Amino acid sequence: MSSLTQPLPTYDWEPTTDFLAAKYRLAREAIVRYDVNTSPLPPDLRDVLTGAFVPVLSEYPPSDYAALVEAAAAAYGVGADEVLPTAGADEALDLSARAFLREGSVAVAAVPTYAMYRIVTEQRGATFRGVPRQSAEASFALDIPAMAAAARTADLVWLCEPNNPTGLAEQGERIKMLLDHFAADAAADGRAGPAVVVDEAYAEFIGSSVLALRDRYPRLVVIRTLSKAYALAGARVGFAVATAQTLAPVLSFRAPASVSTVSAALATAALRRPEVAEANIARIAEQRTRMIIELSGFGWRPYPSLVNFILFRFSSAGTAADAAEALLRVGLVPRTFAVDHPLADCLRLTVRSATENDRLFEAARGIPA
Ligand SMILES: Cc1ncc(COP(=O)(O)O)c(C=O)c1O
Repeated sequence: MSSLTQPLPTYDWEPTTDFLAAKYRLAREAIVRYDVNTSPLPPDLRDVLTGAFVPVLSEYPPSDYAALVEAAAAAYGVGADEVLPTAGADEALDLSARAFLREGSVAVAAVPTYAMYRIVTEQRGATFRGVPRQSAEASFALDIPAMAAAARTADLVWLCEPNNPTGLAEQGERIKMLLDHFAADAAADGRAGPAVVVDEAYAEFIGSSVLALRDRYPRLVVIRTLSKAYALAGARVGFAVATAQTLAPVLSFRAPASVSTVSAALATAALRRPEVAEANIARIAEQRTRMIIELSGFGWRPYPSLVNFILFRFSSAGTAADAAEALLRVGLVPRTFAVDHPLADCLRLTVRSATENDRLFEAARGIPA
């Protein structure tokens, strides 16, 4: 079969809210998404869509997205020539795969991690190599020697920092250490070293970034998004951030105007008002503590989390599946893992609002852990 007729790997989209409401015979408003790591409340950006700033919808957005790029560059502390706006982090991941992978290439990632890395890798006809993370007791940390060994023949390394779905970030200098391994191995073999994409979709929750390391390892691409801490998942705005030279091949694959004028205006305003995301992060931290305390009281076993989701372990994969079904019956939608996934005995729950969480605690009361 030619590669054109072979089915390409695709992302299994989460069932829609309308679908779940119909399936469980609930009102649409009764469904709460604990599965997609969004924020419960959008920022109030009504002024952006009315009055003086109203975007001109009959025209295309400016191809350089100058205002959005300037706002992002200021927020992330980088140069304007180092920022590429994309339709969410997912487009930035796809463009990175297009830029750095060919048929027969190898990409490496520390697993378990975000599912898209495998998908966009395999869509390019490249091979995905998952390197297991350390145990839960070791905070799911990267296995640095194994990552360095796997990366020796790789064109691309995917890293998720903090990692989805485990909810933790690497300690201190460990990413720097890993990049130094890649650079030393590449120099010894006379190669350029793999491109390294660090997906920082949740970076605002930990307040740190690997962006400064692009001086040390120029083939570094950092991915950011407004979907998580900025609570703008519906706007679909993300960024690839890298030195201008590393960004050039990524940019070459982007459609001229993949971010809409409306989304660009919303994102520009949100980036210029950091206090809105900060207040959201503070609210989420408060509810995260509450979810951990309350659900632990029902025997659910949380792993530590720095972000806006928490991984809970159950006594078996079957118990986790039963708990998921019991939550779904009352409209609360957890993230589940397939039976062959290393986290099959876990559910991942997004941190939601106080009132939504009250419903969760009420439901959890009767669910065996
Ligand atoms: C690690 C990670 N990267 C990227 C994304 C996608 O983000 P966006 O909405 O910006 O496409 C997600 C969404 O869940 C994610 O968890």
